[in-house]
Amino acid sequence: RTGARVERLPLARYTTLGVGGEAEVWFVSTHEQLAEAMSQPYRILGGGSNLVIADEGLRERVIRLTGPLAEADLEPDPALSTPDQIITGWVGGGVPLPGLIRKLQKLGWSNLEGTVGIPAQVGGAVWMNAGTRYGEMFDGLHTLEIVTPEGTRQVTPDDLKWGYRDSGIPRNHIVSRVRLKLRPSTPDAVLDAMNFADNARKGQPKMKTPGCAFKNPGGVSAGKLIDEAGLKGLRAGNAMIAPEHANFIVNLGGATSADVHALLDAIRSRVPVPMELEYELWP
Ligand code: FAD
Ligand code: EPU
Repeated sequence: RTGARVERLPLARYTTLGVGGEAEVWFVSTHEQLAEAMSQPYRILGGGSNLVIADEGLRERVIRLTGPLAEADLEPDPALSTPDQIITGWVGGGVPLPGLIRKLQKLGWSNLEGTVGIPAQVGGAVWMNAGTRYGEMFDGLHTLEIVTPEGTRQVTPDDLKWGYRDSGIPRNHIVSRVRLKLRPSTPDAVLDAMNFADNARKGQPKMKTPGCAFKNPGGVSAGKLIDEAGLKGLRAGNAMIAPEHANFIVNLGGATSADVHALLDAIRSRVPVPMELEYELWP
């Protein structure tokens, strides 16, 4: 045994929606522990901010990155950095994104401020190239370390077919660490850009939610389409389509995964435009 902490836990506690039954959670802090955890069927859990997990729980083990895999070395790498480009040391996939964005602002380093307000971990945000209209994760990546049951490799963004909310990295390939690529600016300028991007979130609900349910089809707001179908405020059990923004489903307290699935079905059957799900449904 490599010493990973293993515990059976309710996953609701690890998601922003607050829904999900139990699974065996593997807290891994080294590459050796990661390899052991990946030797049986697994799922990789980040910040749990895009997940609808079944009330029945999961049969697969759930991996969570901790320790050094959740720490950020922001020291510029002298061999890779230049006067107009900072390449950092390794930033663990388990690092919470909001705290990282605040640190980069204080340092006056630009490129990732558009992702302000996304409650992810770095690995999860990179895996789906989380972003807003003002920027996305791939704006600030230099190198990605990816771990699979077959081994570990390093890639650059140019090696991947990434795009809107998509890194091109196959599911269950684990983003263990990344090196960031940043541009020297000033704390004030970065803060201004952050506040501007954050302003676009004013109309988003404050309740428990996994973020936007559907990707915007062809750049059109999925929220606008769901709104136009008259679905704002629709309830199923204790879940509701948010009155503030129709692409958000919120947990009113005690919602079940079946409640959320019922609302997703209602949206799919009432919105005339096909839309791709952004959520991950486990299982
Ligand atoms: P999780 O939800 O834990 O997992 C999501 C997927 O990523 C799963 O497939 C999981 O297996 C995979 N994953 C997690 N960690 C890793 C890893 N280390 N390596 C490989 N795969 C991994 N998203 C946006 O893009 N823009 C927004 O503006 C935005 N706003 C949001 C606002 C709120 C209030 C909330 C709750 C969510 C919002 N989201 C937004 C959605 C969510 O934050 C993103 O989808 C985010 O990328 C999910 O990251 P996570 O770490 O929470 O991943
Ligand atoms: N709108 C409505 N009704 C609604 C929702 C939106 O009419 O219920 C209208 C708004 O009035 C506005 C337009 O649609 O004119 C666009 O709305 P918004 O600015 O909220 O942007 P969005 O396209 O709906 C996207 C991202 C969000 C991100 C925001 C802010 C997607 C799926 N959504 O929303 O990302 O935070 O821009 O940049 O790309 C996420 O991906 O989880 C997410 C929350």
